[in-house]
Amino acid sequence: MVDRRKLAAGNWKMNGLGAELAEIDALAAAHKDPSCDILICPPATLIERMVRRADGSAISVGGQDCHPATSGAHTGDISAAMLADAGADHVILGHSERRTDHGETDAGVRVKAEAAIAAGLVAIVCVGETLGEREAGETLAVVGRQVAGSVPDGATGASLVLAYEPVWAIGTGKVPTMDQIAEVHDFIRSALAERVGEAEAGAVRLLYGGSVKPGNADEIFAVSNVDGALVGGASLKAADLGGIIAALERAAG
Ligand code: PGA
Repeated sequence: MVDRRKLAAGNWKMNGLGAELAEIDALAAAHKDPSCDILICPPATLIERMVRRADGSAISVGGQDCHPATSGAHTGDISAAMLADAGADHVILGHSERRTDHGETDAGVRVKAEAAIAAGLVAIVCVGETLGEREAGETLAVVGRQVAGSVPDGATGASLVLAYEPVWAIGTGKVPTMDQIAEVHDFIRSALAERVGEAEAGAVRLLYGGSVKPGNADEIFAVSNVDGALVGGASLKAADLGGIIAALERAAG
Protein backbone atom coordinates (compact mmCIF):
# COMPACT_ATOMS: atom_id res chain seq x y z
CA MET A 1 0.00 0.00 0.00
CA VAL A 2 1.25 3.46 -0.91
CA ASP A 3 2.21 5.63 2.01
CA ARG A 4 0.29 8.86 1.52
CA ARG A 5 1.14 11.34 4.26
CA LYS A 6 -2.08 12.81 5.54
CA LEU A 7 -2.84 16.49 4.96
CA ALA A 8 -4.91 18.96 6.96
CA ALA A 9 -5.45 22.01 4.73
CA GLY A 10 -7.20 25.18 5.87
CA ASN A 11 -8.91 27.48 3.39
CA TRP A 12 -9.40 30.91 4.97
CA LYS A 13 -11.31 32.16 1.88
CA MET A 14 -11.83 35.96 2.07
CA ASN A 15 -11.23 36.06 5.81
CA GLY A 16 -8.30 37.32 7.82
CA LEU A 17 -6.49 40.57 8.57
CA GLY A 18 -3.06 40.89 10.16
CA ALA A 19 -4.51 40.39 13.64
CA GLU A 20 -5.64 36.87 12.74
CA LEU A 21 -2.04 35.76 12.23
CA ALA A 22 -2.00 35.12 15.97
CA GLU A 23 -3.91 31.90 15.14
CA ILE A 24 -0.76 30.68 13.39
CA ASP A 25 1.29 31.13 16.56
CA ALA A 26 -1.25 29.07 18.51
CA LEU A 27 -1.39 26.39 15.82
CA ALA A 28 2.40 26.17 15.57
CA ALA A 29 2.77 25.91 19.35
CA ALA A 30 0.16 23.14 19.59
CA HIS A 31 1.54 21.07 16.70
CA LYS A 32 5.32 21.14 16.85
CA ASP A 33 6.00 17.74 15.33
CA PRO A 34 2.75 16.56 13.73
CA SER A 35 2.46 13.18 12.04
CA CYS A 36 0.50 14.83 9.22
CA ASP A 37 1.12 17.82 6.96
CA ILE A 38 -0.51 21.13 7.91
CA LEU A 39 -1.28 23.80 5.33
CA ILE A 40 -3.06 27.14 5.61
CA CYS A 41 -4.27 29.02 2.54
CA PRO A 42 -4.94 32.60 3.64
CA PRO A 43 -6.00 35.47 1.39
CA ALA A 44 -3.13 36.57 -0.87
CA THR A 45 -2.55 39.69 1.20
CA LEU A 46 -1.45 37.56 4.17
CA ILE A 47 0.68 34.95 2.41
CA GLU A 48 4.06 36.56 2.84
CA ARG A 49 3.41 37.61 6.45
CA MET A 50 2.08 34.15 7.30
CA VAL A 51 5.12 32.49 5.75
CA ARG A 52 7.36 34.63 7.97
CA ARG A 53 5.22 34.00 11.02
CA ALA A 54 5.18 30.22 10.42
CA ASP A 55 8.92 30.04 9.78
CA GLY A 56 10.48 27.16 11.70
CA SER A 57 7.08 25.54 12.33
CA ALA A 58 5.40 22.56 10.68
CA ILE A 59 2.89 24.83 8.93
CA SER A 60 3.13 25.51 5.23
CA VAL A 61 1.27 28.23 3.38
CA GLY A 62 -0.67 28.22 0.12
CA GLY A 63 -2.69 30.43 -2.19
CA GLN A 64 -6.39 30.13 -3.10
CA ASP A 65 -6.13 30.71 -6.85
CA CYS A 66 -3.63 31.70 -9.54
CA HIS A 67 -3.68 32.98 -13.10
CA PRO A 68 -2.47 30.57 -15.80
CA ALA A 69 0.03 33.08 -17.24
CA THR A 70 3.39 33.83 -15.62
CA SER A 71 3.00 37.60 -15.88
CA GLY A 72 1.31 40.20 -18.04
CA ALA A 73 -1.63 42.56 -18.44
CA HIS A 74 -4.11 40.89 -16.07
CA THR A 75 -5.19 43.50 -13.55
CA GLY A 76 -5.96 42.08 -10.15
CA ASP A 77 -4.65 38.60 -10.89
CA ILE A 78 -1.75 36.76 -9.29
CA SER A 79 0.50 34.25 -11.04
CA ALA A 80 1.72 30.96 -9.64
CA ALA A 81 5.28 32.28 -9.77
CA MET A 82 4.19 35.22 -7.58
CA LEU A 83 2.67 32.86 -5.02
CA ALA A 84 5.88 30.83 -4.98
CA ASP A 85 7.90 34.03 -4.69
CA ALA A 86 5.82 35.03 -1.65
CA GLY A 87 6.71 31.70 -0.04
CA ALA A 88 3.62 29.64 -0.85
CA ASP A 89 4.12 26.00 -1.77
CA HIS A 90 0.53 24.98 -2.58
CA VAL A 91 -2.43 26.56 -4.34
CA ILE A 92 -6.14 25.66 -4.24
CA LEU A 93 -7.64 25.63 -7.74
CA GLY A 94 -11.18 25.27 -9.02
CA HIS A 95 -12.85 25.71 -5.65
CA SER A 96 -16.62 25.66 -6.17
CA GLU A 97 -16.86 29.28 -5.02
CA ARG A 98 -14.50 30.26 -7.85
CA ARG A 99 -16.33 28.02 -10.31
CA THR A 100 -19.57 29.82 -9.31
CA ASP A 101 -18.37 33.39 -8.67
CA HIS A 102 -15.89 33.56 -11.55
CA GLY A 103 -17.27 31.06 -14.04
CA GLU A 104 -14.23 28.81 -13.84
CA THR A 105 -14.39 25.77 -16.12
CA ASP A 106 -12.59 22.43 -15.99
CA ALA A 107 -10.34 23.45 -18.88
CA GLY A 108 -9.55 26.75 -17.14
CA VAL A 109 -8.72 24.96 -13.90
CA ARG A 110 -6.48 22.57 -15.79
CA VAL A 111 -4.32 25.33 -17.31
CA LYS A 112 -4.04 26.95 -13.90
CA ALA A 113 -2.92 23.63 -12.43
CA GLU A 114 -0.33 23.27 -15.19
CA ALA A 115 0.99 26.76 -14.40
CA ALA A 116 1.05 26.03 -10.68
CA ILE A 117 2.98 22.80 -11.11
CA ALA A 118 5.40 24.49 -13.53
CA ALA A 119 6.05 27.11 -10.84
CA GLY A 120 6.86 24.37 -8.33
CA LEU A 121 3.59 24.56 -6.41
CA VAL A 122 1.40 21.63 -5.41
CA ALA A 123 -1.99 22.07 -7.11
CA ILE A 124 -5.00 21.26 -4.92
CA VAL A 125 -7.75 20.73 -7.49
CA CYS A 126 -11.32 20.82 -6.14
CA VAL A 127 -14.25 18.87 -7.54
CA GLY A 128 -17.77 18.21 -6.29
CA GLU A 129 -21.42 18.03 -7.24
CA THR A 130 -24.27 20.43 -6.44
CA LEU A 131 -27.30 19.25 -4.50
CA GLY A 132 -29.35 19.16 -7.69
CA GLU A 133 -26.76 16.95 -9.37
CA ARG A 134 -26.67 14.58 -6.39
CA GLU A 135 -30.45 14.35 -6.28
CA ALA A 136 -30.51 13.63 -10.00
CA GLY A 137 -28.09 10.72 -9.47
CA GLU A 138 -25.34 12.49 -11.42
CA THR A 139 -22.67 12.72 -8.73
CA LEU A 140 -20.16 10.26 -10.21
CA ALA A 141 -20.71 11.53 -13.74
CA VAL A 142 -20.09 15.14 -12.65
CA VAL A 143 -17.06 14.33 -10.52
CA GLY A 144 -15.66 12.06 -13.23
CA ARG A 145 -16.00 14.83 -15.79
CA GLN A 146 -14.33 17.34 -13.44
CA VAL A 147 -11.41 15.00 -12.71
CA ALA A 148 -10.93 14.19 -16.40
CA GLY A 149 -11.11 17.87 -17.38
CA SER A 150 -9.30 19.60 -14.51
CA VAL A 151 -6.32 17.35 -13.82
CA PRO A 152 -3.28 18.14 -15.95
CA ASP A 153 -1.29 15.55 -17.91
CA GLY A 154 1.66 14.19 -16.02
CA ALA A 155 0.36 15.15 -12.56
CA THR A 156 1.97 13.10 -9.80
CA GLY A 157 1.48 12.35 -6.14
CA ALA A 158 4.04 15.07 -5.45
CA SER A 159 2.45 17.76 -7.62
CA LEU A 160 -1.29 17.14 -7.21
CA VAL A 161 -3.79 16.88 -4.37
CA LEU A 162 -7.46 16.34 -5.17
CA ALA A 163 -10.23 17.67 -2.93
CA TYR A 164 -13.75 16.26 -3.08
CA GLU A 165 -16.06 19.02 -1.89
CA PRO A 166 -19.79 18.49 -2.43
CA VAL A 167 -21.04 22.02 -3.06
CA TRP A 168 -24.07 21.45 -0.81
CA ALA A 169 -21.83 20.51 2.12
CA ILE A 170 -19.66 23.64 2.01
CA GLY A 171 -20.41 26.00 4.86
CA THR A 172 -23.80 24.39 5.49
CA GLY A 173 -23.11 22.01 8.36
CA LYS A 174 -24.38 19.19 6.12
CA VAL A 175 -22.06 16.25 5.48
CA PRO A 176 -22.60 13.28 3.15
CA THR A 177 -22.94 9.86 4.74
CA MET A 178 -19.67 8.01 5.18
CA ASP A 179 -20.80 5.56 2.48
CA GLN A 180 -21.34 8.45 0.08
CA ILE A 181 -17.86 9.85 0.81
CA ALA A 182 -16.32 6.40 0.36
CA GLU A 183 -18.13 5.88 -2.94
CA VAL A 184 -16.88 9.17 -4.40
CA HIS A 185 -13.33 8.87 -3.06
CA ASP A 186 -12.95 5.32 -4.39
CA PHE A 187 -14.36 6.50 -7.71
CA ILE A 188 -11.96 9.49 -7.85
CA ARG A 189 -9.00 7.19 -7.23
CA SER A 190 -9.99 5.09 -10.25
CA ALA A 191 -10.83 8.12 -12.41
CA LEU A 192 -7.40 9.52 -11.58
CA ALA A 193 -5.78 6.25 -12.64
CA GLU A 194 -7.30 6.70 -16.08
CA ARG A 195 -5.94 10.23 -16.20
CA VAL A 196 -2.39 9.83 -14.82
CA GLY A 197 -1.85 6.09 -14.51
CA GLU A 198 -2.27 3.65 -11.65
CA ALA A 199 1.00 4.36 -9.83
CA GLU A 200 0.63 8.13 -9.60
CA ALA A 201 -3.10 7.90 -8.92
CA GLY A 202 -2.22 5.76 -5.92
CA ALA A 203 0.14 8.45 -4.62
CA VAL A 204 -2.20 11.47 -4.94
CA ARG A 205 -3.75 12.57 -1.67
CA LEU A 206 -7.55 12.82 -1.74
CA LEU A 207 -9.03 15.33 0.70
CA TYR A 208 -12.64 15.54 1.77
CA GLY A 209 -14.00 19.07 2.23
CA GLY A 210 -17.36 20.44 3.36
CA SER A 211 -18.34 21.17 6.98
CA VAL A 212 -15.46 19.22 8.51
CA LYS A 213 -15.34 19.94 12.25
CA PRO A 214 -13.53 18.44 15.24
CA GLY A 215 -16.76 16.57 16.06
CA ASN A 216 -17.09 14.71 12.74
CA ALA A 217 -13.43 14.44 11.72
CA ASP A 218 -12.74 11.00 13.25
CA GLU A 219 -15.50 9.27 11.29
CA ILE A 220 -14.59 11.06 8.07
CA PHE A 221 -10.90 10.16 8.39
CA ALA A 222 -11.80 6.50 8.89
CA VAL A 223 -13.31 6.38 5.38
CA SER A 224 -11.44 4.56 2.64
CA ASN A 225 -9.30 6.78 0.40
CA VAL A 226 -9.71 9.88 2.59
CA ASP A 227 -6.19 11.22 3.10
CA GLY A 228 -7.11 14.40 4.93
CA ALA A 229 -9.40 17.40 4.77
CA LEU A 230 -9.82 20.78 3.16
CA VAL A 231 -11.34 22.86 5.92
CA GLY A 232 -13.04 26.24 5.54
CA GLY A 233 -14.86 27.75 8.51
CA ALA A 234 -13.21 25.53 11.13
CA SER A 235 -9.72 26.48 9.90
CA LEU A 236 -10.06 30.08 11.08
CA LYS A 237 -9.53 29.19 14.73
CA ALA A 238 -6.43 27.31 15.81
CA ALA A 239 -8.41 25.37 18.42
CA ASP A 240 -10.92 24.04 15.86
CA LEU A 241 -8.33 23.17 13.24
CA GLY A 242 -6.23 21.68 16.04
CA GLY A 243 -9.07 19.28 16.86
CA ILE A 244 -9.22 18.20 13.23
CA ILE A 245 -5.43 17.78 13.07
CA ALA A 246 -5.57 15.63 16.22
CA ALA A 247 -8.20 13.41 14.56
CA LEU A 248 -6.03 13.11 11.45
CA GLU A 249 -3.06 12.12 13.58
CA ARG A 250 -5.17 9.43 15.25
CA ALA A 251 -6.17 8.16 11.80
CA ALA A 252 -2.51 8.18 10.71
CA GLY A 253 -1.85 5.91 13.70
P1 PGA B 1 -16.35 24.61 5.09
O1 PGA B 1 -15.62 24.94 3.68
O2 PGA B 1 -15.38 23.74 5.87
O3 PGA B 1 -16.58 25.93 5.73
O4 PGA B 1 -17.59 23.86 4.76
C1 PGA B 1 -14.85 23.99 3.03
C2 PGA B 1 -14.26 24.57 1.78
O5 PGA B 1 -14.95 25.34 1.08
O6 PGA B 1 -13.09 24.31 1.45
